[in-house]
Order: sequence, then structure tokens, then C-alpha cells
Amino acid sequence: MTDLYDHLFPAYREQAGLSDDERIDWLRRDRWLSLPQSEAALGRLEDLLTYPPRGRMPCLLLFGSTGMGKSEILNRFAELHATRYDKNAGLTIMPVVMVQMPPQPTEEEFYTELMLAMNYSEFDHISLRSLRSLARRTLGEFGTKVLVLDEIDKMLAGSPRQQRIFLNTIRFLTNDLRIPIVCAGTEDARIAILTDPNLADRFAAFELSPWRNDHALRQLMASFAGLLPLRRPSLLDEAEVRQRVIALSEGVTGRIFRLMEAVAIAAIRSGREMIDADSFDDEQLLLPLVSMQVIASAKRALRRRAA
Ligand SMILES: Nc1ncnc2c1ncn2[C@@H]1O[C@H](COP(=O)(O)OP(=O)(O)O)[C@@H](O)[C@H]1O
Ligand SMILES: [Mg+2]
Repeated sequence: MTDLYDHLFPAYREQAGLSDDERIDWLRRDRWLSLPQSEAALGRLEDLLTYPPRGRMPCLLLFGSTGMGKSEILNRFAELHATRYDKNAGLTIMPVVMVQMPPQPTEEEFYTELMLAMNYSEFDHISLRSLRSLARRTLGEFGTKVLVLDEIDKMLAGSPRQQRIFLNTIRFLTNDLRIPIVCAGTEDARIAILTDPNLADRFAAFELSPWRNDHALRQLMASFAGLLPLRRPSLLDEAEVRQRVIALSEGVTGRIFRLMEAVAIAAIRSGREMIDADSFDDEQLLLPLVSMQVIASAKRALRRRAA
């Protein structure tokens, strides 16, 4: 190998040699990046896996705004502990079961989703009661160690009565299953769970807080500089770049990723092949990503700095 593209991390140099279309395609794919908060959250989830059964299992509430990376963390966790077949025992093991909250937050819908998550689909005409015990039994048979409920703020779409029933369901599961439960959702979901006195003392909360213009962001920008498949070195360590990124994304992980993807694609298309503070000036590019309001306030901030 030559030292071509040595501004990139070694594992990413080859990508930079691909055609424009191939690189754009590569940029649009999702790939897990080890971010400080995501790794810390994953560590908390890992801890739950090894917890011995006891009267009161610890539960975890992962909360943060939409786009902060909650589902990515949960998916990663489920991937690291994927379903496997234990040949010796002749058993399928499903250490992590992950359920998306149904749009209709009823108990029936919830248990139906839970059974679907365990690849079980023949439960027509089963009473709620049987569904409940079937779910419980199946979790036991699969040796499930952690039950994950994503998007629990959907429960807030229900009537107060439905919400109460749903919180009871979570309480029932925590009491009954003897396995830790992880709930992920927004700040509203946190309030809903923690205002239930029975749940409040079971759930530890872990917040994914928005990115700020600090050392962690600087490291993230350094990662992008080392992995985006551009042929010339980018200038992502400038304070102005960080300011623009925070202003345009409001510190939301998903928006930062979309933003960097968009400027990288623009750099490929224009032949500029690098990103710097000027890359963030193109309104045509940014408009689809962020609200007008955010762009306007970012501009005001820039003008203030320039003055
Ligand atoms: N650790 C990560 N590695 C790579 N991309 C991530 C990571 N965390 C978040 N993202 C990006 O942010 C987007 C939003 O994340 P997501 O998990 O869907 O947020 P949430 O569930 O909190 O609404 C993802 O589609 C992905 O592009
Ligand atoms: Mg999500």
C-alpha cells in the first residue's frame, strides 16, 4: 500500500479510492460508531445481563430526545447478544428480547408485539390472560436475560386509563419475570415512568444529553475527518466548524450524522474533496436537514461573531 489518503484512518483509506457513486452509497449506510455516551449506555446494559435473579431486579430507563441514538444503542446491544442455537441443549437462546411499543398502547397489542419479537405468530383467539402467561413462559424457555421496550413514549398517546394500565403492565413484568427491563423513550416517557411511585424506585435513569461544543465533539469531528471517504484532508478541528455543527444540529446525534453525510456528499459531487467551515454555508444543502429557524439563528450567531 502507498501512503495515499494518509489523512484517513488506515481502515478507511481504501474507500476513498472508490468511484463517486460508490462513496456516496457508502456514506448513506448506517454504521455503528463508538460514541462516548453510546458506549456508556451500552456498559449499563451489559451490567444488567449478568445480574443474578433476585426479588427486585434493577431496571434501566434510557432517555433523551428523538435522534439522540437510543434505538441504535438498543439494536447494538441486541446484536451483541443475538439469538443462538445451543446444540448441546437443543435449545434456542434469546438473551435479549426487544419490543417496539405498539401505536395502540393496549395490553393485548403489547403482548402481541412481545410474542412477535420472539418469532411467535400464531396466537389468534387467545385471551389476554393466556397471552400473558404464554409470553412469560416463552421468555423463560428462551433464557431471556433482558427485556427491552423501545419508544415507550408511545404509551402517552393512550388515554390516562390506558397509560395507567400500561404502567401496571411494566410493573407486573418487573415483578413477575425476575429479569431486568430496559425502557427507552423521550423526556416525557421519563416523567411518566418516574411519576409512578412503584416504578420510580426500580428504574435507574440514564440520559443521552445533546452534544455540546466540548472535547467530546472535537473527538467526534476528528473521527469524521478520519473516516469520511474524501480524497483531501478536511479541516474539522476548527472552532467554527464545531459552532456550525452545534447550531445546525442542536446537538442531536442523528442530525449531526445527517449533516456530515450531506457535506461529505457535496464535497464529492463538487470535486472539492474536503470539508471545512465553508462547507456549512450551502443553504440548498442544509435546508432539507434542519428547520429554517435553526438556520436563521445560526446565521444571526455568525453575524454577531463577525461584528
Ligand atoms: N452510535 C452511533 N453510531 C452511528 N450512528 C448513530 C449512533 N447513534 C446515533 N446514530 C445516528 O443517529 C440516528 C438516530 O439514532 P436513533 O437511535 O434512531 O435515535 P433515537 O432512537 O434516540 O430517536 C441514527 O439513524 C444514526 O444515523
Ligand atoms: Mg428510536
